[in-house]
Amino acid sequence: MNRYREPKYRTILEAGKGELEALREKSLHSIWKPRFHIHPQFGLMNDPNGLAFYKGEYHVFYQWYPFDAMHGMKHWAHVKSKDLVNWERMPVALVPIEDYESHGAYSGASIEVDGKLYLYYTGNLKYGPVERSANQCLAIMEESGHITKYEHNPVVAGTPKGYTGHVRDPKVFRKDDTYYMLLGAQREDLTGAIVVYESSDALNWTFKGELDVAIDLQGYMWECPDYFELDGKDVFIFSPQGIAPSGHSYHNVYNVVVAVGSLNVKQLQFEVEFYQELDKGFDFYAPQTFEDENGKRMLFAWAGSGEVAYPTDQEGWAHCLSIPRELSIENGKFLQKPAKQMALLRGQLISGQGEVQGYEAVANEDTSYELELHFKPADATKFGVELFASEEERLVLTFEKDAQVVTVNREQFENAFGGEYGFVRSEAINLSGDVKVHIFVDRSIAEIFINNGEVVFTTRVFPKEDSKGINVFSNGTVAYTFTKYTMKD
Ligand code: FRU
Repeated sequence: MNRYREPKYRTILEAGKGELEALREKSLHSIWKPRFHIHPQFGLMNDPNGLAFYKGEYHVFYQWYPFDAMHGMKHWAHVKSKDLVNWERMPVALVPIEDYESHGAYSGASIEVDGKLYLYYTGNLKYGPVERSANQCLAIMEESGHITKYEHNPVVAGTPKGYTGHVRDPKVFRKDDTYYMLLGAQREDLTGAIVVYESSDALNWTFKGELDVAIDLQGYMWECPDYFELDGKDVFIFSPQGIAPSGHSYHNVYNVVVAVGSLNVKQLQFEVEFYQELDKGFDFYAPQTFEDENGKRMLFAWAGSGEVAYPTDQEGWAHCLSIPRELSIENGKFLQKPAKQMALLRGQLISGQGEVQGYEAVANEDTSYELELHFKPADATKFGVELFASEEERLVLTFEKDAQVVTVNREQFENAFGGEYGFVRSEAINLSGDVKVHIFVDRSIAEIFINNGEVVFTTRVFPKEDSKGINVFSNGTVAYTFTKYTMKD
């Protein structure tokens, strides 16, 4: 029996009388609760888990600590959907009550095996404030939706030799007749790595070794591995910690990298053709992917960041997920586009065009909307758009032709936050032609997709109630068209 306890290691089953209702009430009237982004009613959400299209429905599980906007005893919360955009809350899927998961049901992924959805996750174990270990566990969801923890858990007990207690976040996939489990890990020399287990039945696992990822990034821990095939390539996504900022990349406390290349899992080798930071915004971590009903590769990420205090912490809730994104590799470029299913949420359309010299307001009264902008810069060298704009506040997206760079600045808000990691994010971009911007705004989040998803910024902001404006601007002349949709309830 593992008896290390702190108040934050309490499950939802131990809630006091009226405690959950009070938590729900506290955050109920927040003006920052998203309308179409998956978010917790109360408490803290982080990574998406176990993503699947299974028996005609989409399932998203996520890391959830119910009692406060902080990291504590993690549960798997659960929402499902028939269309990937309208979600229904389900009962909590995993409550960590067993010894083998004594300090939380940590992240993991799912795979369909013999008509059932196998949910792999990490049983987090703590023996003191620092001392820890981890088990890899399995829960099985039947077609009826009933979820049971596997009777012979854990499926991997403890962490392999040569690694610390930080080994977690199973991603299971099948190649030929073998199942493979990738785990994020920390070596005993405190560097990050990926370890691999294999199995013929998805139940009994043996340690195979460490994946050799030929990449010149190290860090002290690699979290949340994902692997899939996409457009004839192999893709490996992971969330390294301890990567120093360099150029336009890795400015968040923890980062996400996508590597495109080829995997030889038998030889434990991933050859990298190219890699990049996956999203250039401030709030993006621990993404996971799955195939939708049309066989498209979709991604959800935690639109949040560790170690940063968010304005909603005061309201007893924190974070949301990104919208679903479709991934592709086109002409050697890794692209992320808003899922086509997002169009199901379109309400009223307003569109128009203009030519801007200086500032021009695109009328807006909504706090949640979809916006497409197409810029044709004539002699302007600097142009862009402000969102969440009022006299005092604005999120600024700027294209600078001379520097061939795009930036996002979120400094100008009364509730500006996270400044310890800087208020500006940027990326190099070819600005010799037109620029297309596709944006989803949802009360306290903007997801900005540039030039068909070549560059994406995921960014939270916490505007005052009247900061809703959309202004286009330019230092010369820019012609633009815009299409804006309200979002259906
Ligand atoms: C990533 C992460 C995972 C872990 C989970 C715990 O954000 O640290 O490695 O499983 O969160 O909530």
